[in-house]
Amino acid sequence: PFHGVVAIDGPSGSGKSTVARRLAVALRAGYLDTGAMYRAATWAVLSAGIELSDPDAVADCVRSAVLTITTDPTAVSVRVGDVAVDAAIRGPEVTGAVSAVAGVPAVRAHLIAEQRRLIDAARDTGGIVVEGRDIGAVVAPDAELKVFLTADPVERARRRSAETAADLNATAADLRRRDTADSRVTKPLEAAEDATVVDTTYESIDQVVERLLGLLAQHA
Ligand code: C5P
Repeated sequence: PFHGVVAIDGPSGSGKSTVARRLAVALRAGYLDTGAMYRAATWAVLSAGIELSDPDAVADCVRSAVLTITTDPTAVSVRVGDVAVDAAIRGPEVTGAVSAVAGVPAVRAHLIAEQRRLIDAARDTGGIVVEGRDIGAVVAPDAELKVFLTADPVERARRRSAETAADLNATAADLRRRDTADSRVTKPLEAAEDATVVDTTYESIDQVVERLLGLLAQHA
């Protein structure tokens, strides 16, 4: 059985979430979507009516919110207090505000500590696949395997708009805006030095998962 950590970084629309979840199922490992944590924190900030331009208030709100995220890849759920926010965190309000919240250093420090706690707990059980923007470089630099998933920007927008049923051009513009905003904080378009870059533009989900299982077998 697998006991390690797989770090999967990359921009949105790169296939990260689907690939990471499938890989976790194949390995019988846990799964952690760190983007969902930043999104849940953002939901807490928006529902408290806090101004995004006030980083101290944003950080206080996130630190006092009780975020709960499951690490079972077949039963992903995210709560803030006792509210299930799985659907709300994918909506346009949260998506539009998440880069600003994720850019507050105290928010990152708080969530990264929580991510490391969940990762450490999983090491004793079946290992964990962790997806995000800064996992290989910052959150889990000692991961057994680090992968950076990329895809052509047009393909990323096509995938994302198929998921959300939103207009393709609006989706492409939103991805560009978020890449730019996120670049001030993490390196969404840049692989960690020791990460394996996997271009998913012309590959199916299954092909990418097979490739990652192959990489893991080589590293073992
Ligand atoms: O992956 P997803 O698109 O759900 O991530 C939502 C947002 O959370 C990103 O646009 C980014 O602002 C932030 N994020 C981050 N660091 C991570 C994961 C996500 O800053 N490790």
